[in-house]
Amino acid sequence: MKGRAALTVLGFILLSFTSLCYGDLQVGFYKKNCGFKEVELMVRKVITAQFYNDSTIVAALLRLHFHDCFVRGCDASILLDGNSTEKNAPPNFSVRGFDLIDQAKAVVEGACPGLVSCADIIAIAARDAVYLAGGGWYNVETGRRDGLVSLASEVDLPAPSFSVSQAIAAFGRKGLDTTDMVLLLGGHTVGVTHCSLLQDRLYNFQNTGKPDPTMDTFLASIWRFKCPQNAAKDNTVNLDQNPKSTDVVDKSYYKQLMINRGILQIDQELALDPQTNATVMSLATGCKFSAQFGQAMVKMGAIEVLTGTQDPKPKEVEPKVDLESGQAWPPPTANGEPEIKIGWSCNHSSFTATTALKDLKLKLHHLGHPLIK
Ligand SMILES: *[C@@H]1O[C@H](CO)[C@@H](O)[C@H](O)[C@H]1NC(C)=O
Ligand SMILES: *[C@@H]1O[C@H](CO)[C@@H](O)[C@H](O)[C@H]1NC(C)=O
Ligand SMILES: *[C@@H]1O[C@H](CO)[C@@H](O)[C@H](O)[C@H]1NC(C)=O
Ligand SMILES: *[C@@H]1O[C@H](CO)[C@@H](O)[C@H](O)[C@H]1NC(C)=O
Ligand SMILES: *[C@@H]1O[C@H](CO)[C@@H](O)[C@H](O)[C@H]1NC(C)=O
Repeated sequence: MKGRAALTVLGFILLSFTSLCYGDLQVGFYKKNCGFKEVELMVRKVITAQFYNDSTIVAALLRLHFHDCFVRGCDASILLDGNSTEKNAPPNFSVRGFDLIDQAKAVVEGACPGLVSCADIIAIAARDAVYLAGGGWYNVETGRRDGLVSLASEVDLPAPSFSVSQAIAAFGRKGLDTTDMVLLLGGHTVGVTHCSLLQDRLYNFQNTGKPDPTMDTFLASIWRFKCPQNAAKDNTVNLDQNPKSTDVVDKSYYKQLMINRGILQIDQELALDPQTNATVMSLATGCKFSAQFGQAMVKMGAIEVLTGTQDPKPKEVEPKVDLESGQAWPPPTANGEPEIKIGWSCNHSSFTATTALKDLKLKLHHLGHPLIK
């Protein structure tokens, strides 16, 4: 990550393949446009190799994809380094996996230089992670272009303390309906949060001086023990409280909600609010979670994407002032037009495609993984 160009606020990518004409997102975009090379398989190998070492990358990649898509569309703007980029906004809490995307980018760059967007790599990696963690397969759509604008001031993600109505409104602004929201929050079937985000529910729910009455009392007593008030260490808390399923992408999260064992306030509210309780119940008791979750991920992956040779939306090249530096962006050129930077937002890796491939083969070999021929 060291060599990452500090591109914060600079406009839009022009593609080097603008002579080709693509439409919207599609399944298998790179198969068609990259000489039938298996770009998705290359990404999968990188993700698989890491998954067998560290399964917490599943939650990390889901979170990365979600954060990317919710701020300025799925354009990899979450990857951009800089003093006031999305990455440095407070809700970046526990966003990880940047190095994995870099590694996958380096590998695909060797096969298909300058074509594969980092936004697509994030989407492919999230799908692979879901699959590896038992969540079933879905076809991922590709063909996104990367953006080069990333502003901390634009980060406005749904908070864990949101009410269901607030969350519905936040997802609605991104074109996602209530069912999509219940499904996407199902991503909490893996991953952790921290005691600090639970303090309110455990000790002083909405300033009542009492625990949240909607939390199972036994569960609350366990977590009061593991999350003492004013503790020096901010312990982790599994979002899915079924100990057999903390790392598995399955419907167990909804089952836990049905028995008042949701961890974040918004999780538990899903099972109680009349706008969402029926969906939670049907997901908890039915067998459609995997298929529906995949569909919701595809829908999320299409939020405000830029594809093909589509012109950047006018609002996005409107000159603005960077809040921190006071600089205008995009910087005007001599003739007064905003400058458009050409390039990809994550082709800054300090290692080359060759070393990344070598490293990957070593890892897969070590694991004796069937993906290696
Ligand atoms: C394996 O995962 C751990 C984190 O759990 C990480 O520190 C380590 O670097 C990983 N090893 C490899 C070879 O990637
Ligand atoms: C970030 O801030 C530091 C100190 O204010 C400055 O030296 C550096 O150039 C800034 N980096 C970017 C990318 O703006
Ligand atoms: C998240 O933002 C904080 C500042 O708010 C920054 O120190 C930290 O490095 C950021 N995390 C990542 C992963 O970039
Ligand atoms: C959802 O909540 C409403 C209002 O509390 C209730 O009438 C309804 O029966 C609930 N539905 C399910 C499926 O639990
Ligand atoms: C990305 O790589 C291309 C060549 O592969 C280069 O022309 C471009 O400047 C790079 N972009 C960034 C943002 O580093």
